[in-house]
Amino acid sequence: MYILGMESSCDETSAAVVEMTEDGGRRICSNIVASQIETHRLYGGVVPEIASRAHIEAVSGIAYEALQTAGITLRDLGLVAVTSHPGLIGALLVGVNFAKSLAFANGIPLVGVNHVKGHVAAAYLSHTELKPPFLAVVVSGGHTSIYRVNDYNDFLEIGATRDDAAGEAFDKIGRVIGLPYPAGAAMDKLACEGRAGSVALPSPALTGDTLDFSFSGIKTAALNYINGLNQKGEEIPRADLAASYTERIVSAVAAKAAKALAETGLTKLVLAGGVAANSHLRRALAATCEKQGATLFTPPISLCGDNAAMIAAAGYYEYLDGNLSDTSLNASACD
Ligand code: KG4
Ligand code: ZN
Repeated sequence: MYILGMESSCDETSAAVVEMTEDGGRRICSNIVASQIETHRLYGGVVPEIASRAHIEAVSGIAYEALQTAGITLRDLGLVAVTSHPGLIGALLVGVNFAKSLAFANGIPLVGVNHVKGHVAAAYLSHTELKPPFLAVVVSGGHTSIYRVNDYNDFLEIGATRDDAAGEAFDKIGRVIGLPYPAGAAMDKLACEGRAGSVALPSPALTGDTLDFSFSGIKTAALNYINGLNQKGEEIPRADLAASYTERIVSAVAAKAAKALAETGLTKLVLAGGVAANSHLRRALAATCEKQGATLFTPPISLCGDNAAMIAAAGYYEYLDGNLSDTSLNASACD
């Protein structure tokens, strides 16, 4: 079955065609991503109103390009899958309304997809043999959660951040030390040049018998460190700070992933979301999995960030479970 995926929850307008078959076939036929990053960079972060307008301008052209690149027409589609939640409400509404109109005007079934489930589904496309149950660690600009994925549509959240997300923590401190938005990838590079542990920072892993995180403390500690040096007129050791900050975040995620593997007895771990592109995190989780006798499944960097192929893949499993949507499908900012 050919599925058209649509994604517009934040600052990427994306459309993709994915072919999924009952015997386990999973193939990306096209995956077009129009990023608005350059537009938002001017403001140091995503401006929701600008994002919505840019999605409106891009959405039909991107959908057309996805079909063309895949070499199919609307008549070949068996399903339209669209991110319906969570995300920026104005941005989501563009994708949802476009998908609804397209599906109902052409008599194609429609499903609304949870964006976080979409990130996890990216691993189905890169690792075609992957099947639940597994543990999923989703780290993105808006989420940091650990799930026990019992089945394709059965997610149990067993750990989560109590405040900010890991990606937001990277972006915020990166911005303060002068890196362009979104700072995650630049922080990753800069961290390679510094000495981890040279700047004392608290761990985002909450202590005690919990799989939860809190990133507000490490953010505040890094800000205080930067402000202190600025007040004294001293130079900020940017690479050392990036390395120490990254090491604290990465080891917290790895420690909670190790605890979750031990507690659940699961032997497969999916690392997904925009921050899953982080080279230090990928290495750390590979080491954690090796130590615990588990297998790590992490999508290639091209499928870690927001894209519509992952939404199409997640939509297929919603469709198989009969979770179809109708014209009443609405967008929601919340999970
Ligand atoms: O999943 P995503 O594209 O959007 C959300 O659903 O939030 O994630 C975007 C986040 C941004 O915070 C970005 O800075 C971060 O992923 N990111 C990274 C890296 N590449 C992207 N963070 C750390 N290291 C990276 N290499
Ligand atoms: Zn995302």
